[in-house]
Amino acid sequence: MSEAAKAITAGPDGPGTGPRHVAIIMDGNGRWAEKRGRPRLLGHRAGARRVREIVQACPDLGISFVTIFAFSTENWKRTQEEVSGLMGLFRRYIEAEAQNLLAEGVRVRFIGDRVRLDAKLRGLMDMIEALTAHNTRINLTIALNYGGRDEVARATKRLARDVAAGKLDPEAICDETLPRYLDTHVLPDPDLVIRTSGEARISNFLLWQSAYSEYEFVDTLWPDFTRAHFEDVIARYGRRERRYGGVTA
Ligand code: FPP
Repeated sequence: MSEAAKAITAGPDGPGTGPRHVAIIMDGNGRWAEKRGRPRLLGHRAGARRVREIVQACPDLGISFVTIFAFSTENWKRTQEEVSGLMGLFRRYIEAEAQNLLAEGVRVRFIGDRVRLDAKLRGLMDMIEALTAHNTRINLTIALNYGGRDEVARATKRLARDVAAGKLDPEAICDETLPRYLDTHVLPDPDLVIRTSGEARISNFLLWQSAYSEYEFVDTLWPDFTRAHFEDVIARYGRRERRYGGVTA
């Protein structure tokens, strides 16, 4: 980590105690485009370019895990034009970025229900996950057709099947059991959740996992959210005190 990054992430526990896992609700693409009198899809394209910049900033800020909300289980309610435009954008993003992400040490994973996604996109998702599976520098998780309630419902179904098959004793279920069935089972919980565009909602994102996350709601629209904005948010996190329900020592 650079000296500048150490200063940015210096929290109450000393330098470099910034967040290990940052989750981002990338909101405001539509408004960014509308403000310019352009189609909403143009805002999503500008948003996709920001993803690259923010992911590249992570190692320098001591962030090993970044999880981005790309498409929610509720986003299917948008016009067919916007939905198919977004799906095309995800396909092109994977095709265009696969080799860069591989070279930059980024391991890509997806969370969410893949069943409703088209076969071409699912194939590309499998491809980039396999291609980058040995990378360890940054863990980029893309939430695609993801909803926190849907994830808990799908996890519960799998858990119930294990109970029915006699593989899991219902009496042994505790608060550490369900996370093993969630899409995020290999990830740490997010330390910080950022939402851009001035809205202060969690919109069904990482409901279980963010029980003790810090939240930052910033006014900037996602396509305008630069590395400098990101560094400001990380510096603010460093000044927070996390007590996890306890009291200050
Ligand atoms: C929310 O803004 C954003 C989305 C629903 C899509 C997020 C997608 C991207 C940033 C595209 C790139 C992602 C990848 C992984 C390549 P909104 O459309 O709800 O904005 P609004 O609230 O201003 O209408």
